[in-house]
Amino acid sequence: MDTSQLHAHKERVNHYLAKQLTEQPLVDERLLAAMEHGLLLGGKRVRPFLVYSVGQMLGANIDELDPIAGSIEAIHAYSLIHDDLPAMDDDSLRRGRPTCHIQFDEATAILAGDALQTLAFELLTTSNYQPQQQVDMVKVLAKASGYQGMCGGQALDIAATDNDNGISLLQLEQIHRHKTGALICAAVELGAIAANAPKETRELLATFSQNIGLAFQVHDDILDIIGDTATLGKPQGSDLAANKSTYPALLGLEEAKSKAQRLIAQAIEALEQLPYDYQLLKEFSQYIIARQL
Ligand code: IPE
Ligand code: IPE
Ligand code: MG
Ligand code: MG
Ligand code: MG
Repeated sequence: MDTSQLHAHKERVNHYLAKQLTEQPLVDERLLAAMEHGLLLGGKRVRPFLVYSVGQMLGANIDELDPIAGSIEAIHAYSLIHDDLPAMDDDSLRRGRPTCHIQFDEATAILAGDALQTLAFELLTTSNYQPQQQVDMVKVLAKASGYQGMCGGQALDIAATDNDNGISLLQLEQIHRHKTGALICAAVELGAIAANAPKETRELLATFSQNIGLAFQVHDDILDIIGDTATLGKPQGSDLAANKSTYPALLGLEEAKSKAQRLIAQAIEALEQLPYDYQLLKEFSQYIIARQL
């Protein structure tokens, strides 16, 4: 993929997010520093990219998409801070730096995650969209982040970790669709809400996002095996060490790779039915399973 657009959207959301944190009144310096650490330092900005590129493809104004792109990244940053905590994946490296609880302390990391989560919803309410669109966006983001989405998936992930009985492929798919897929679907849906997209378009985009969302986590599992710590910025082999349920663990590496490829083919099939210029999203779909971090 020509990554210039990925880069441009990343710069854009980084600038927006940095401004949001700079403008926070000073309440607790250490907490704000931990939020900056989790939100501003690194990250591919894949979810903001989806908000921008889907929104723009459907005719939304890019400036107005900033709070939407920023809000989903704030949720994602919170999810990573909590994912790395000792009670969860217990990882000490993220984006090439010490994880939030290592750099600061556990209580601060928990609170930084909490505060980023609520910041996400605050940002949604600062947008210029119609009240009904804002309510729809809050609902989509809340559902995708909580019990029916990321948090539910993280709970299933923990239950499936170090589980001697093993889990089925269907159970693993459920975990991945919740813990990672839901937020990726939400990013696409938020872009569609911003553009007031028609129902048929949203349905095709839902098929697209469900497939790239699952493929994204399958490839994340693959990178845990074939990647290297320096490139990933997080510890290679962490899943194996923790006895995580992953696609390569269940299917083997080659089958996991084919699975990811099939999912991306299905995503592209849905895209190609859209009456819009989907070229950028098509290239992005291929990037998801080609990326090295
Ligand atoms: C990592 O997400 C965790 C998953 C949900 C797979 P990303 O791969 O998007 O992480 P960053 O934001 O680029 O660091
Ligand atoms: C994370 O999945 C999913 C989240 C909801 C954060 P992983 O635990 O595989 O993510 P990494 O590999 O630590 O980034
Ligand atoms: Mg995890
Ligand atoms: Mg993890
Ligand atoms: Mg992982």
